[in-house]
Amino acid sequence: MSDVWSGRAQAFRDSPTHREGPDLDLLVEWCEPDEGVKVLDVATGGGHVARRLREEGCTVVTVDRAPGMHPDVVSRAEDLPFAEGSFDVVTCRIAAHHFEDVRHAVQEMARVTRHLVVIEDNVFVDEAVEEAERLRDATHVRCYSEDEWKELLTEAGLEVEQVERFERHPDVEDWLARVETPPDDAARVRELLADRIRDGRLELQSVVIKARRSQS
Ligand SMILES: C[S@@+](CC[C@H](N)C(=O)[O-])C[C@H]1O[C@@H](n2cnc3c(N)ncnc32)[C@H](O)[C@@H]1O
Repeated sequence: MSDVWSGRAQAFRDSPTHREGPDLDLLVEWCEPDEGVKVLDVATGGGHVARRLREEGCTVVTVDRAPGMHPDVVSRAEDLPFAEGSFDVVTCRIAAHHFEDVRHAVQEMARVTRHLVVIEDNVFVDEAVEEAERLRDATHVRCYSEDEWKELLTEAGLEVEQVERFERHPDVEDWLARVETPPDDAARVRELLADRIRDGRLELQSVVIKARRSQS
């Protein structure tokens, strides 16, 4: 796939729903941050998770497949170039729906953590929403249900400890502009999502999941 993400770096650094929110607060809390805790932030994008964890004293390594996101390491989530158990915590926020092989990516996260994997992603709603997401942004692969997430994490040898759902409400026009959806596709996206748009804001649900390596 071509590197469209590098050109989106500033838009994702500035995005209000990525920069802050109660979902980000909880994800940071569930990473059990402390001085010297070593964290890997997979698909770091605008780097918001990494920034927050560094403020808590963690040592954070960022990974992203797009060089323009300026991660510490350019890599796909599916092929993390780290030895088993290299980090105390591995986190990945609002990105897994772009991974070509999410199962393999979760296995990689489970392999390189010593203790925790903390994930947030938008949850699967229905096929109309999936179609809209793919039209909006061709890099969208698929969202997963809460049960699918639990299965992915369990299959990778992790124990799911905590799960919480969040409503996210991005401004629809900002959400489309951030990935430069062409006008005709944007019109169809608005049509497909009509019953999920209120006062110009899209209703999205995300799930935050904390999972622990069984033997940690
Ligand atoms: C929505 S942004 C991530 C948001 C960010 N984690 C945050 O909390 O603000 C999605 C990111 O996933 C990255 N990405 C997409 N597919 C990837 C893959 N297979 N491996 C690693 N990074 C990937 C993109 O380059 C992009 O930076």
